[in-house]
Amino acid sequence: SNYVVIMAGGIGSRFWPKSRTNYPKQFLDILNTGRTLIQSTFSRYNKIVPVENIFVVTSEEYEEIVAHQLPDLPPENIVTEPFRKNTAPCIAYVAFKIFKKNPDAVMIAAPSDNLILEDDAFGETVQNASQFVESVNALVTLGIKPRNPNTGYGYIQRDDVEAAPGIYKVRTFTEKPNLELAKVFVKSGDFLWNAGIFIWKVKNIIAAFEKFLPEIHEVFAAEIDKFNTPLEKKIIGEIYAQCPSISIDFGIMEKAPNVYVIPASFTWSDLGTWNSAYENMAKDYFENAVVGEDVMVYDTHNCVVHVPDNKLVLLQGLEDFIIVDTRDVLLICKKDKEQEIKDYVADVKRNK
Ligand code: GDD
Ligand code: MG
Repeated sequence: SNYVVIMAGGIGSRFWPKSRTNYPKQFLDILNTGRTLIQSTFSRYNKIVPVENIFVVTSEEYEEIVAHQLPDLPPENIVTEPFRKNTAPCIAYVAFKIFKKNPDAVMIAAPSDNLILEDDAFGETVQNASQFVESVNALVTLGIKPRNPNTGYGYIQRDDVEAAPGIYKVRTFTEKPNLELAKVFVKSGDFLWNAGIFIWKVKNIIAAFEKFLPEIHEVFAAEIDKFNTPLEKKIIGEIYAQCPSISIDFGIMEKAPNVYVIPASFTWSDLGTWNSAYENMAKDYFENAVVGEDVMVYDTHNCVVHVPDNKLVLLQGLEDFIIVDTRDVLLICKKDKEQEIKDYVADVKRNK
């Protein structure tokens, strides 16, 4: 049977100041659709697997937000982490939990912050992947045709010939390259962006952990007898304290020899940054994307503006800026510096 694991423990720092540590972007309705990102994600996967097979992994501090936003999700399917250790420990944890129930299960690991249109095409792609991993020891990821040299993504180079219909062996996987390299990748036409949606058998990803992240494998494997029992919560505190913080992309996808990719036929966007939101928002005549009821613009182009409805905001002479005003924080930042927002937020935390 198939399980879906929605990873929802990130803090979305590149979306600051809309996204805050105590209420990150996956719990916000970034595009004004009437649903938060995690709600859209949940309903997309609930079309493919029954609700009892969906797990949401998040920090202890967000448990209540998840329960509130996803009332159909059984409370025991909210898996909480005592520390933020990035996606590798998160995936290892749930893989071991599922493995204990059903060693032969297929797991679909998904971010909580993607925008996907054409849910049907998406469902077929995931179906294709899960059939493939039934018979092949493969770590499958979904690939997106790159639109620009974004340095926030993984870049996948694939074989020319299909391993199965629509599925290609991966030659190289490069997580978050520098700008020069990203430009080379995009220009070559050979590369895809990693969508961050992974499909594999739990036993095969566990084997990959054993090989490439043995320090993580070891601490989980030693305590598997306590998983899915009342002893789990306590032991997870001890396990996580020993886990390094590393993403699945750096830890496993860049290294494993058995990675495959399915180029996506659906529309995908990572709502990871202000530019990605900008791309998906309605624009005015001057290509400004404006959220806020009382915004006046003069000689201002290509800006993303997100301000409270009850505030009159007047902008003059701005080009390619991010302007975000919240109750307690105002951000004005050049659009091409959006990847650095993460570092600015770190500075803010250090100085406060
Ligand atoms: N439970 C849990 N715990 N979830 C986490 C944690 C954690 O410690 N850290 C991150 N997440 C969640 C985030 O909330 C998000 O939904 C997902 O895992 C991916 O984390 P991001 O921090 O958003 O990763 P990224 O965007 O930098 O990079 C990944 O996604 C790109 C596509 O959007 C990589 O997979 C890239 O290769 C990929 O291109
Ligand atoms: Mg992301």
